[in-house]
Amino acid sequence: MKWSFLKVIACGSLLLTANAVAAGNITGYRGQVFYFTDNPVEVKNAADSYKYYEDGVLYVQDGKILEAGDYASLKNKYGNNVALVDYSGKLITPGFIDAHVHYAQMEMVASYGDQLVQWLEKYTMPTERKFSDLQYATKIANLFLDQLINVGTTTAQVFCTVAPQSVEAFFTAAQSRNMRMIAGLAFMDENAPDYALITPEKAYSESKKLIDKWNNKGRLNYSVTPRSAYLLSDAEMQVATRLLKEYPGIHLQTHLAENMESVHMVEKMFPGKGDYLEVYDSYGLLTNHSTFAHSIWISDSDFQLLAKKGGAAVFCPTSNLFLGSGLFNIGSANKYHTKVALGTDYAAGTSLSILQTMNESYKVTQLRKAFSNDPDSVKPLDPFQNFYLATLGGARALALDQYVGSFSPGMEADFIVLDLQSTPVLELRESRSQSLQDILFGLEIVGDDRTIAHTYIMGEKAK
Ligand code: GUN
Ligand code: ZN
Repeated sequence: MKWSFLKVIACGSLLLTANAVAAGNITGYRGQVFYFTDNPVEVKNAADSYKYYEDGVLYVQDGKILEAGDYASLKNKYGNNVALVDYSGKLITPGFIDAHVHYAQMEMVASYGDQLVQWLEKYTMPTERKFSDLQYATKIANLFLDQLINVGTTTAQVFCTVAPQSVEAFFTAAQSRNMRMIAGLAFMDENAPDYALITPEKAYSESKKLIDKWNNKGRLNYSVTPRSAYLLSDAEMQVATRLLKEYPGIHLQTHLAENMESVHMVEKMFPGKGDYLEVYDSYGLLTNHSTFAHSIWISDSDFQLLAKKGGAAVFCPTSNLFLGSGLFNIGSANKYHTKVALGTDYAAGTSLSILQTMNESYKVTQLRKAFSNDPDSVKPLDPFQNFYLATLGGARALALDQYVGSFSPGMEADFIVLDLQSTPVLELRESRSQSLQDILFGLEIVGDDRTIAHTYIMGEKAK
């Protein structure tokens, strides 16, 4: 009798403790909660593509989204026992996604005077050469990821260099921050200095070793990374084909039709294989896990082919303007329902900030309008679509939308807190915003790293 009485007391207190811990693990973040559930250009009314709670709350438990909604209704459900962080007046959104970026190019931002092919030869290859030094690669990888957190980017697809050490350094740094990252060893064997090349045999064996070590390790994924068709022989393209066959569902990242010079080089190197995108497709590299940076000089039928196979184009406006590469045609992408993401393409791109990337993507659409024969048919990029591309659109393009990019229950709690009053200029601009659309437009044009008040990785505050 005495024993069973004690047992009941013990079980009871255990139960109490367990409940208290569960409640203790829930944290609510109160603020203006905003996230997409759909593509605003694919629904009749843009308002059906997102959720916006002016006095909202985001509940997070054990690093995952528990629920997002209206504060007044949810506070009754979760009670007063859960921790509440007050970000009233600030905007809480999913972390930004940068679908194309070169971490090894950080130090060479603002390299003057050249366009793509010459810029690569003169500045990029000598800079990337340094990444065979693991210590140096580690230093830059850490600097890079700290900068991403500073600008509110929580997921990126990243080019490393031809040196396996550059990939090791990157994944190690990402793992230590528990960030959801995709990266891969960039390989090429043509049209570059000898030190920047890797043979097909080595490209295959080194990629394979890195895939086996890092793919699907925690929040990390591997992307097979043939650098660009004009830098690869037939044999080296086949390395990518083989890796995709051996690892079904693996990511692939590359460059596509960035400028006209590279388009002409591909025509000469792969006669009879069609245009730039068709060359990739002929090697089996166009899948629903493939992303193609730039995709500027492509035809409407290429946009259709991308859509049919589920591949994504990555719009990299600051890079395209900096290198004078061209103006991405988001109108055609929308017309054919092609997946699109935003990329900084740093350091041909000039900022790691996705807010600043949105700023320039808007301007690219304005320039397209100015140069169009039918200006009325070209719409300046809508702020809703811009924010969609930076979050859920990016996640869908990278086939990561079951994990990040939105606030559905169970998703990983990577989110950012945007301060609409972070600078006097933004505060003044936002004070006259009349709608959510206008708030977003003010943010994307005037906002920068100072606007990112906080960055959370799996529910942990990193900024
Ligand atoms: N094409 C092949 N490599 C690169 C690169 O590093 N940057 C850009 N912008 N384009 C490329
Ligand atoms: Zn690039």
